[in-house]
Amino acid sequence: MWTLAWGSSKLRAMPLDTEEDWHDIGSVEELSTKPVQQVMVRSVKIALSYKDGVFGAIHGACNHAGGPLGKSQLDGEYLVCPWHHWKFHRIGGEGERGFEEDVVPAYHVREREGRVEVSSRPHKKRAKKPHAPHPLSREPRREPGPPRIVGISTTAMNPDYPRYSTSEALLETALEHARSKGHEARMLRLRELSFRACEGYYSKAARACTWPCSITQMDPEDQLDRVYEALVHWGDVFIVATPIRWGSASSLYFKMIERMNCIQNQVTIADRVLLQNKVVSAIITGGQDNVQAVAGQLLGFFAELGCQFPQFPYIAHSRGWTAEDMERNMQTVQTSELLAGGARELVDRGIELAERLLATTPSPPPRGGRKGRALPVVG
Ligand code: FES
Repeated sequence: MWTLAWGSSKLRAMPLDTEEDWHDIGSVEELSTKPVQQVMVRSVKIALSYKDGVFGAIHGACNHAGGPLGKSQLDGEYLVCPWHHWKFHRIGGEGERGFEEDVVPAYHVREREGRVEVSSRPHKKRAKKPHAPHPLSREPRREPGPPRIVGISTTAMNPDYPRYSTSEALLETALEHARSKGHEARMLRLRELSFRACEGYYSKAARACTWPCSITQMDPEDQLDRVYEALVHWGDVFIVATPIRWGSASSLYFKMIERMNCIQNQVTIADRVLLQNKVVSAIITGGQDNVQAVAGQLLGFFAELGCQFPQFPYIAHSRGWTAEDMERNMQTVQTSELLAGGARELVDRGIELAERLLATTPSPPPRGGRKGRALPVVG
């Protein structure tokens, strides 16, 4: 026997459930206590919902990135995927308004003598509305030309009343020097970008942390895409400039690197190293101390993204724990030819390493003892 069903925007004939298709999943009394739960029908994970006395059953894997729909919250008649909040009708499986072409397989449910039975045969098949790929998701392919330099200033300040930043000033010196030698160089000031803090998708599941970043894909207003574009697709040499704030790098630095988890996570979930032959160095300045801790954290982080470092990968300046006369600190940096020369030499070292790396073919990433360990296969 056959029935008619909507799917993929057209009316299709679907076979009717036979007695062999029905599968007992438990008692009505027990299964009606939770609005949403994951159940198994044969070997398939099903998102079972219960609302206003009616059960619904759709496939447990989200159309987007496979998130567990059986762990959704209910929003009216829709299941909200716990990973990135796509919505699917809890009975019909269709996406929310405007996304009805996105369909998760749906299954018939019936109650019999106090028991709940779900058909193992979907009455609607999975269908995916075409979503244009995000521009960042393209395969990184280096355009020819001499190494390109990206400076990332992580200094925070009031944009209406700019002030002198020692780390940014040295970064400007380095970029200017690179330009004078015929290299393209870009400055990215994080304080001029509006971007959200990492919202912890990785904490839900490694595969929930996607490339491009889930936030970048969902929020067209988020401007961290400019950093991703420069890092993954455009640049070869990166100089990260940061002040020292209570012994650590700046708050904007940490806000940025938390959002870069998606780059490292590609090694884990997709065996994909997005940053090949990328050189990173740093400029670290502060009135007081802890240069080594800031440098250690920064180099450790970019090492796990797969970046390389020139010999002596950072320059730094601080006047010491007891130095509270910050005016003199600024004056020192402004007038120090030693530091300005150091900034020029830093970018030279980065360019020289990049030129050597670009002439080689990267080898596959080692896994043993590294953070990017392969994930166990889960059923
Ligand atoms: S919204 Fe479900 S996996 Fe992304």
